[in-house]
Formats: sequence, structure tokens, C-alpha cells
Amino acid sequence: MRPAQWKDYELIDTCDGERLERWGDILLIRPDPQIIWSGERKDPRWGKAHARYHRSKTGGGRWETYQKMPDVWKIRWEDLTFRLKPMGFKHTGIFPEQAVNWAYTRELIRQAGRPVKVLNLFGYTGAATLACLAAGASVTHVDASKGMVQWAKENAQASSLADRPVRWLVDDCLKFVQREQRRGNVYDGIIMDPPSYGRGPGGEVWKLEEQLYGLVEQCVPILSQQPLFFLLNSYTTGLSPSVMAYLLGLLLKPRFGGEVSADEIGLPVTATGLTLPCGSTAIWARARAGVRGRTGQENPSAKGAPGRLAPQANKIPLHFVRRGACPRRAGKSLRKGRSGILGGVTEPGAVEGD
Ligand SMILES: C[S@@+](CC[C@H](N)C(=O)[O-])C[C@H]1O[C@@H](n2cnc3c(N)ncnc32)[C@H](O)[C@@H]1O
Repeated sequence: MRPAQWKDYELIDTCDGERLERWGDILLIRPDPQIIWSGERKDPRWGKAHARYHRSKTGGGRWETYQKMPDVWKIRWEDLTFRLKPMGFKHTGIFPEQAVNWAYTRELIRQAGRPVKVLNLFGYTGAATLACLAAGASVTHVDASKGMVQWAKENAQASSLADRPVRWLVDDCLKFVQREQRRGNVYDGIIMDPPSYGRGPGGEVWKLEEQLYGLVEQCVPILSQQPLFFLLNSYTTGLSPSVMAYLLGLLLKPRFGGEVSADEIGLPVTATGLTLPCGSTAIWARARAGVRGRTGQENPSAKGAPGRLAPQANKIPLHFVRRGACPRRAGKSLRKGRSGILGGVTEPGAVEGD
């Protein structure tokens, strides 16, 4: 497991299907179906939360506010600034567990020693885009939601990165990739964190388990001759880290060689010392970065641990893959995943097309 390290964000405690989190100075209680254990809510901050999200049995839910709080506030991760606000489906605008992936990709970009072009698909509020921009890459950011792309631009502004080389596109990811093939555009790195279920701006239906292989396959021709990385993240989809590693290995290794690894990512829980699993990431990389999952500090537990990028064998490194480590949700709708509930975006029109 690769735990994300933060100063401005803290997963304080987990209990009875809920997590208590600090986002800067704001305390939120949010549901998390993975938290199937009970316990005593010893931390006094449980009683000081600003708001709690109640999930409705009929889908969706609502925020209940206990204390006055700003409509929008900001937190920082390293040199990046993110705007936050409580939204539908318990979201705040950031998935903090992703910090390990931001740290990893930006280390690869910094070590590349050459100009790097990154494509961030399903880019949401732009955190991964900003991490790559800050490391010196040029980035194409694609998301179906006009509102999310606008939010990502505001995060770039807040992080003083608005003048960096970035294309912000409201588009359907699959259609965009197919157009890039026709245009002959290529990328040195691709990041994708697709939802279980979503819709493109023209109503195009995205179903992860039916379309993921096809999308990754369509991405292969738009990788440059010497690509640096391909990062695939998934949450609550029934896709194990092993399956994600196979997918990247099958599609990328025959053409580019390189290494594939996969592991859970998670958030350290202050009260218990445990790490709450928050999804899985598979990474294909041409060469190993100096660190894996580093977020400002070297993570000593990552050395020699499963999931580390160090396989020598020219095959998918199963010994680096934590079998069965993915939090499976047998019997639960895929749409209940963290990504899935973000689907359904129906804003019309893509800003780029041919
Ligand atoms: C899980 S979020 C991505 C999270 C992000 N990578 C991060 O860690 O901050 C999923 C995003 O996919 C977008 N989306 C869903 N279906 C899409 C499609 N067919 N094409 C483009 N974007 C889509 C949604 O608008 C949403 O912003």
C-alpha cells in the first residue's frame, strides 16, 4: 500500500461507515462503505465537525452543516493550491489519496531531462494536471464536464500555474483519443482515472469494465516513441491491481518494453495508525523513478515493498502486485464507486473537435 502524506489534509479517524477528515481548518464527516468496523469515537474532533454528508438510500445524499463554514476554501499540497467546496455525492473537489501519484509522475517528469507532453484523461479538478505542469511538463487536460474544467483552471490560477503550457478541453475521452490518432499527436505520459460509469459531453456512455481495455488500446498509438509513463487509477470497480497491471503490460510492453507495477493507494488514519485503502493504481514506466509514492519525504516502507517499481524480469512483475489487495465490492453496483458517482455529466459540446 502506498500511503499519501499531507499537511493540510488529515484522515483523523474511521468508524461505523464514516470518516472524520480535516481539510485545512474544516472538519468533515463523510460516508465510506469500506469502513465496516465499529469503535469508540475517542477523538474530540468528531463532535466539532463543520458538516456531515448523509447518503440517501435512494441515491445521492445531502450535507448537514453543524458550524458556519466558507462556501469555498483552499488547501495546499506541496506547491499546489486546491479550491474545495462541499458538493453532491460527498465530494470536495480533491481525492487526497492521489497525492502519491502526483508525486510519482512529477518525479518521472523532473528526471526525464527533456520536454515532456502529458495527456490527463478524466482530469476532474486538475490536481494531476497541476502536478505535471509544476514539474515542467506541457499538459492536455480532458474532461466531459465544463464545470470541472473551469474548476481545474481556477486551481491552476490559485497555484500560480495559469501561464504554463496547458490545453483545457471539454470532450469525451475516447473520441478525443481517436481524434488525436488521426491528427498524429503523441504524448510522453498518459494519466487516466476513469469513473466506473460516466457520460461524455455529447451523452456518450462510459462503462469502465466494458470500455477500459479499448480506451487504453486506443491510447497506444498516441504514445511517443520513447514514452515515460502510463498511469491508470481505479476505485471500487472490481478491477484488481493485478488485472490493471495485466492490461497495461499486455498493451504496452510488447511495443515499449519497460516495467509495470500495481498497488493499492491509501490514506493514513491518525487515530489508529492504519492506512485506509482508497483504490488501486497500475503504472507502466519506461524506467524507474528515484522514488515511488514520495510526497515530500521518502517513504521508507515503500523500499522493497510490494508494488515498488523495481522488477528486472521482462514480464509483468506479479511478485510486485498485491494479489486480492483491491477493495472488492461483491454484489454492489459499480456506480456506487467514487468515480462512478461522478458520471452523468451532460453538458453539451466539446471545445475541440474536427
Ligand atoms: C474520478 S473523476 C477523476 C478524478 C481525478 N483524476 C482526480 O484524481 O482528481 C472522473 C471524471 O471523469 C469525467 N468523465 C466521466 N465520463 C467522461 C467521459 N466519457 N469523457 C471525459 N470525461 C468523463 C467526469 O466529469 C469526472 O470529472
